[in-house]
Amino acid sequence: MANRETKPRVGGPEVSTRDLFRLDGRTVLITGGTGALGLEVAGSVLESGGDVICIDLPELPPEAGWTKVQAIAETHGTRATYYSCDVTDADRLRFLFEETMPKTRYPLRGVVTCAGVSGRVPAVDYPVDDFRRIVDINLVGTFIVAQAAAREMRNQNVSGSIVLVASMSGWGSNKGLDTSAYNSSKSAVLQLGRSLAAEWGSRQGHPSIRVNTISPGYIKTRLTAESLAKPTQEQVWSAENMLNRISTTDEYRAPIIFLLADGSSFMTGADLRIDGGHRSCESMNELHSESYGLVKNVPISKHWKWKRSTIARSDMPRSAEYLDL
Ligand SMILES: NC(=O)c1ccc[n+]([C@@H]2O[C@H](COP(=O)([O-])OP(=O)(O)OC[C@H]3O[C@@H](n4cnc5c(N)ncnc54)[C@H](O)[C@@H]3O)[C@@H](O)[C@H]2O)c1
Repeated sequence: MANRETKPRVGGPEVSTRDLFRLDGRTVLITGGTGALGLEVAGSVLESGGDVICIDLPELPPEAGWTKVQAIAETHGTRATYYSCDVTDADRLRFLFEETMPKTRYPLRGVVTCAGVSGRVPAVDYPVDDFRRIVDINLVGTFIVAQAAAREMRNQNVSGSIVLVASMSGWGSNKGLDTSAYNSSKSAVLQLGRSLAAEWGSRQGHPSIRVNTISPGYIKTRLTAESLAKPTQEQVWSAENMLNRISTTDEYRAPIIFLLADGSSFMTGADLRIDGGHRSCESMNELHSESYGLVKNVPISKHWKWKRSTIARSDMPRSAEYLDL
């Protein structure tokens, strides 16, 4: 294609494996930077040698979380700064870039978009304005930030890596959760990642910017707190994956650092699904559907016996038919 050219690669055989996971000499922008995942990512980037700029809605970051982030920065000789900014406000973001980028020690070479909201409402009653707001923050806000960052990387002529936080909910819907707006927005984030990767990987007159997504499974954070307040919810969600538990934010550090750093030099337009195998075991979910009260009092071993004797998947009974086992 006429408008493409091969760019110099990052990393290289002379770089030690350990250094392929380092972020020295670069600044990484983190949206949703006061949230559970955002703070965790900030700490791990700082530990890996990068400076961070966190943006989020509150005027000031939460004291406890931010004190911890600053302590990590001090230990590792890195810097963390915070700015209040709504990711859907393109003008404010542009102003912020003009103000902050000249003051950074290192060029902006990484972005992690953790800003996101959810909402549980049956689709038939979903207020359209609420649906729009979720799409606006999760999808349009993600685009606004990625675009601003790509412009900055182009201005500074540096290669970069953008990690968009999608969700396993972008790959399928979640049983028992009325989250049509959230699920749709996260599917769109997956497609946004692929589209931006295609445009920015080898465009003429543009440094190479890799764009990948991650799709977390259930994480114990504020976003899931309301659902997890129900006594059996954690058990139900745990039973839906292969590890029989839900995740914590620290389990996303290594995948995100890998995508930001040069170790993932040949990876773009891809998704890392980190969901304990949830989306890889839909048939297992069916077998475990007793969690939803569909097959009460039927030992799980009986399901497995039946499964082993099943020849074709099309022969599988519907959930309600399990009652006859
Ligand atoms: N918690 C989970 O189970 C889970 C699962 C899959 C994906 N995710 C995704 O991970 C990301 C982080 O979620 P979390 O669990 O840490 O939740 P969180 O609520 O702790 O963090 C989300 C952050 O986004 C910020 N935010 C919301 N609207 C914003 C806006 N308009 N502008 C700027 N910031 C805004 C919030 O203030 C908050 O700090 C989200 O994108 C979420 O969709 C979470």
